[in-house]
Amino acid sequence: MPTSRLPRFYDLPLQARLAQAAQAAGLPAQSLECLLPEHGLTAGQADHMVENAVGVFGLPLGLALNFLVNGREVIVPMAIEEPSVIAGASFMAKLARESGGFTAQADPPEMIGQVQLLEVPDMEAAVEALSRRKAELLAEIDRVDPVIQRLGGGGRDLIARPLADTPLGPMLIVHLVIDTRDAMGANAVNTAAERLAPRLEAITGGRAHLRILSNLADRRLARARCRIPAAALAFAEYGGERVRQGILEAWAFAAADPYRAATHNKGIMNGVDAVLIATGNDWRAVEAGAHAFAARSGRYTSLSRWTIGDDAALEGELELPLAVGTVGGATRVHPAAKACLALMQVESAQQLAEVVVAVGLAQNLAALRALATEGIQRGHMGLHARQVALAAGAVGEAVDRLAEQLIAEGVIRLDRAEQILRTWDEDVNRGSPLG
Ligand code: MEV
Repeated sequence: MPTSRLPRFYDLPLQARLAQAAQAAGLPAQSLECLLPEHGLTAGQADHMVENAVGVFGLPLGLALNFLVNGREVIVPMAIEEPSVIAGASFMAKLARESGGFTAQADPPEMIGQVQLLEVPDMEAAVEALSRRKAELLAEIDRVDPVIQRLGGGGRDLIARPLADTPLGPMLIVHLVIDTRDAMGANAVNTAAERLAPRLEAITGGRAHLRILSNLADRRLARARCRIPAAALAFAEYGGERVRQGILEAWAFAAADPYRAATHNKGIMNGVDAVLIATGNDWRAVEAGAHAFAARSGRYTSLSRWTIGDDAALEGELELPLAVGTVGGATRVHPAAKACLALMQVESAQQLAEVVVAVGLAQNLAALRALATEGIQRGHMGLHARQVALAAGAVGEAVDRLAEQLIAEGVIRLDRAEQILRTWDEDVNRGSPLG
């Protein structure tokens, strides 16, 4: 039985972590080796992916542990350069699993393609004609991608949206709603929009201009919930009820103020994006959709919501559009993305979205808990100091040694790190035993 609960994982050497993670997920021992840079995406593969390729860009890949999503154990791969994110998600998942973990649910994978029609002679007649010919247009969408249709996807709806008031006068927007199954769907939707445009011109008498998917994928929402008893929130000198209240106050701030909401949602996206990158998904698409969704009321606000539920537990929920895929794009080309999907053992794009939204909620909780108590700098300190040490040019054991000194001095700055390294170099040249 796979488990995401791996006590003392942090203390293992990196190679041993790889082996243990594979074993915990029930995968063959070597199956995660391609997460190491020497076995990852090659320059040759990169050359087929983008234009003018000159190399491959690495990011740290870590595993968030303790996740229980809809009763299923999931080890969550996260690609991210920022310290504390993976530890924060893992720790909150540990708190949540005491009360059954996260419950999550994703809508059917319906994407929206937009066709912009200009110079429509009679808007009302055009809308009426589109409604009359809807079935025939949906059948045409199905013919555009027979594979998706065979897998149970295809055209689901066609919606005419007259925009009466634009800077260039009225225009008619047609939404093609397409179920893209386990694909993110950009290719399928864009192809359908381009293919149907001439028919839409003929039906409406307008001129088709843009034909492209919308990243505000609000028919493809995913939502997660969790519940943490107040007592479980206690740490150091902070009592559980005080932490719970602090989290509610922090959330209320984000709910009311766009300046705070942007940062609050950035914290959520720290978790969301890291999983999307690890699985080869288009994180810019999800970012665009998430922030547009956060502004849907006309005022940008928090994507999450925190309340006090029955028996005084802290309850959280998060909802956002999640256009993700488990097939297509980089998901099946990038060796590390393939391994990460195998590690998560997700069977569909919907199941992947459920895990991603749960990670976003955990990440939000981690940030709010830290902000509402000791602040985030303290937790950041160790890894931040190591990053500064690396940037200053420390290698091997000197990285930890330099980081420890920076923390001890309470000055985690590049100039100070470089200065210390210089004094060590001088000591070595003078033959000091410290070298
Ligand atoms: C930092 O990457 C994310 C936070 O700023 C999120 C937040 O403020 O809620 C800590």
